[in-house]
Amino acid sequence: MRKPNKLAKEIAEVVRIGEMPPRQYLLLNPEAKLMLQAVQALIAGTPSGAGLQVERERYNY
Ligand code: HEM
Repeated sequence: MRKPNKLAKEIAEVVRIGEMPPRQYLLLNPEAKLMLQAVQALIAGTPSGAGLQVERERYNY
């Protein structure tokens, strides 16, 4: 199991660059953008994810 801080950093990275959630999944499940916003809010509050800004145009919301 990875340490919470490392995991938060990795999650912040995959979300920020648009690797996760998978694009295909978002196309089929538009409501998943809410999940994305929740993850963004959560990660932004952790030291390793501070300042995380998801590029809105990547997700079109
Ligand atoms: C906001 C939602 C999501 C977050 C934060 C997230 C985060 C992550 C992270 C941190 C990894 C590990 C990446 C790595 O080891 O390099 C991962 C891998 C993966 N995720 Fe997600 N994920 C999300 C949604 C999803 C969804 C909805 C699916 C499927 C429909 C999915 C499928 C996968 C798969 C298949 C992998 C393994 C990919 C690989 O190892 O190349 N994820 N995800």
